[in-house]
Amino acid sequence: MNRKNRAGNQNAAIVALGMAVPETVLTNEQLAEQVDTSNEWIVSRTGIRERRISGSSTTTADLAALAAERALQAAGMPADALDLILCATTSGDYLWPATACVVQQRIRAVRAAAYDLAAACSGFCYGLANAAAFIESGAMRNILLIGADTLSKHVNWNDRSTCVLFGDGAGAALISAVPKSEGILASVLGANGDKLQAVWLPDGGSRSPITAQILAESSFGLQMNGREVYRFCVEVAPQAILEALCEVGLKTSDIDLLVMHQANLRILQAMAERLDIPMDKVFVNLDRYGNTSAASVPLALTEAHQQGKLKPGSIVVTAGFGAGLTWAANVMRWAGESNG
Ligand code: ACO
Repeated sequence: MNRKNRAGNQNAAIVALGMAVPETVLTNEQLAEQVDTSNEWIVSRTGIRERRISGSSTTTADLAALAAERALQAAGMPADALDLILCATTSGDYLWPATACVVQQRIRAVRAAAYDLAAACSGFCYGLANAAAFIESGAMRNILLIGADTLSKHVNWNDRSTCVLFGDGAGAALISAVPKSEGILASVLGANGDKLQAVWLPDGGSRSPITAQILAESSFGLQMNGREVYRFCVEVAPQAILEALCEVGLKTSDIDLLVMHQANLRILQAMAERLDIPMDKVFVNLDRYGNTSAASVPLALTEAHQQGKLKPGSIVVTAGFGAGLTWAANVMRWAGESNG
């Protein structure tokens, strides 16, 4: 699905950012004491050096609410000015109700509607397209889009092929109306349900509720065909980026900063090569956080802003890819001030 603003006379833009990660750091060396792996293997295959782990006392909504408060504080906007809280997550506090409703209650966003969006690691980039459509149509003015996940709670900590990859975190973006030349210019969203089992959490839903047997076998946890996911990411995400750029008549050489889902450094390098974009235009922070799923793009955007890499007028492209399999790309002309 390709979309750009064809009707409205205003665009939507990220005008403030905030992030939250758990305090506890789990290094590769610490992991190597728990499973048969090594710092060398993890760094050479993924680029990840450490990740943040939430533990039993911190939930996805805790991190999401903190990131939300920080984004609102950066904007100087009261929570009751929000029309919608949209939380991209697949590891919410409950199967239902939505984690967005937990955040709505915490930050006292009394006027806001609230719902979750489950597009896994593509969730935040899907959410940018959702938020843009509401704002461009004039239906809403201020939307808080959150990407938050604690996949450390979905990981089988005995499975070395997956447990080294993931970390926890949350990022929030305040999205408001701007003139039509700025903000989110185009988005491309896609999915391929034929690849449901390439990376998935088989148990815990209505098809396979948690049973005593699953618990006794310690088989609960996300499962992944790493090579299939790798091939999918490298093929599909660059194509989505090219399509989104084409929608608004831009080329890869127009990109000032590429902020992609932080799954794996080798994936980012392969995508940059396919797009012929130098790595100094590709934002990377997965070495410190690992793969934080829906949180990874807003965490990266927040840190990019803190480092002065998001300049007004610059072309910023975001891209997500993940379970579903799903993918999404957004082209933005960065608008005005934002803070982390
Ligand atoms: N430590 C040491 N050895 C390991 C580990 C580990 N943590 N994990 C696997 N191995 C071993 C395997 O057992 C295998 O050993 P063998 O040859 O004796 O059988 C060997 O390393 C190679 O395993 P592969 O799975 O083939 O390793 P590969 O080179 O494909 O790298 C990786 C694995 C890093 C997961 C890669 O496939 C990848 O990056 N895939 C993308 C997946 C991804 O990023 N998923 C994130 C979730 S989805 C998303 O966010 C888009």
